[in-house]
Amino acid sequence: MGRWGFFISIEGPEGSGKSTLTSGIIKYLESKGYQVVYTREPGGTPTGEMIREVLLRGSEDMNPMTEAFLFLAARRENVVRNILPALRSGKVVVCDRYTDSTIAYQGYGRGLPIKILRRLNKLATLGVKPDLTLVIDVNPEKGFERINGKDLDRIEREAMEFHTRVREGYVKLAKISGRRVKLLDGSKPPKEIQKEAISLIIDRMKEKGKLRGEEI
Ligand SMILES: Nc1ncnc2c1ncn2[C@@H]1O[C@H](COP(=O)(O)OP(=O)(O)OP(=O)(O)O)[C@@H](O)[C@H]1O
Ligand SMILES: [Mg+2]
Repeated sequence: MGRWGFFISIEGPEGSGKSTLTSGIIKYLESKGYQVVYTREPGGTPTGEMIREVLLRGSEDMNPMTEAFLFLAARRENVVRNILPALRSGKVVVCDRYTDSTIAYQGYGRGLPIKILRRLNKLATLGVKPDLTLVIDVNPEKGFERINGKDLDRIEREAMEFHTRVREGYVKLAKISGRRVKLLDGSKPPKEIQKEAISLIIDRMKEKGKLRGEEI
């Protein structure tokens, strides 16, 4: 691998299987000898984890733009402290949620102008974009069934219509984002989703000249 690494973000609605897929991908890549850095959003840094608490436990009626700025602030910390240094030293970064969550949740979900959110994302991230974004598409009702029994956070407690807009937003995003964003069918079993994800990662790594050896 050249000096600059490879950046993968994992996206999707609540309970779609993001964390399951993230850990599967990391295990696979590590078994192939890649150095992998895992992060999650919001969070991934000490300041980011504190911002996460405000976002997930703050008042129900938090202003949508306040919410957006908090996510962006946590993202900035994550980019500066984790993502950029890892990419600079040639590592693979796997991030559970990134810029597309802002577009899906604060844009399609809350109704904030997407054009503005894109500009803010660019500012917050210093323009650091994933090489590949895997969006797990699942019906939000199904997602919530999977996380049934979990203590729901402020955003998860939103109405089902909100979560449906988020899901539809992700699907639109995947359609308009070109080669970077790939949609995975989240109703399939985890093993199958992981297999598809790995094949997409290999293809994209090849395309970007980041694949190690002939085969990973
Ligand atoms: N493809 C799948 N089919 C069925 N169940 C799944 C699938 N993927 C994950 N699960 C299960 O669904 C639950 C939620 O999965 P996971 O925590 O990976 O989702 P998530 O998208 O990270 O959720 P959250 O939005 O809470 O972070 C877990 O119990 C997990 O084992
Ligand atoms: Mg998760």
